[in-house]
Amino acid sequence: MEKLAQLYEGKAKKVYATDQPDLLVVDYKDDATAFNGEKKGTILGKGVINNRMSNMLMQLLEKEGVPTHYVQELSERETAVKKVSIIPLEVIVRNIAAGSFSKRYGVEEGTRLKQPSLEFSYKNDDLGDPLINEYHVLAIGLATREELDLITEYAFRVNEFLKAYFLRLDIELVDFKLEFGKTSDGTIVLADEISPDTCRFWDVHTHEKLDKDRFRRDMGGEVEAYKEVMRRLTGE
Ligand code: TMP
Repeated sequence: MEKLAQLYEGKAKKVYATDQPDLLVVDYKDDATAFNGEKKGTILGKGVINNRMSNMLMQLLEKEGVPTHYVQELSERETAVKKVSIIPLEVIVRNIAAGSFSKRYGVEEGTRLKQPSLEFSYKNDDLGDPLINEYHVLAIGLATREELDLITEYAFRVNEFLKAYFLRLDIELVDFKLEFGKTSDGTIVLADEISPDTCRFWDVHTHEKLDKDRFRRDMGGEVEAYKEVMRRLTGE
């Protein structure tokens, strides 16, 4: 497979065409942004960690019956993925109150939720990714009822698996964001990435933050935090 022209550059990844119509190459950058790109920075080595971590987790999720875009890791920063049209929804699952949930509902950060929650945001930078409900998704035509039901089922399955998986590594999966895409034959697959950029990870004992909140909140130590999650995942 040959990597061809760059199609798109996002905040954290570049996407390239290939000589195979159904495959793309994603290239993970060290760039970090927060607050819809208002805050910019670099987390040195992040691209290498996120590429490896996301690929590891997606391969595990495939075995749990969640189809993903993952095809093959090509290099430290590059992965071949299935070409999909991204459904413009951020699918956010939460186990513990934090971030925008705590702010919106006045629930103290760290409060364990009575059951996992799921919400959608409309992926639209111009609008600042607003919260959106299912009726609005259907009314605008961002997804169908069947697609929303499948996405919801997959998102909770991802949560149940990853929550237990990370707990064995003494990591609390606080919340995370997923994106789904549709392949040329209409199959819904998990896309984008699963990494400390898109998940909140807390150490079970110390509650130390091991994710991008360190960057968002100017706490420092983001490189070490990303490395620590990877270290626990690989057992190295
Ligand atoms: P929130 O509490 O800020 O809404 O974030 C919920 C989860 O989603 C958290 O794990 C971080 C992740 N997230 C992204 O991956 N991308 C985003 O643009 C935002 C706002 C959150």
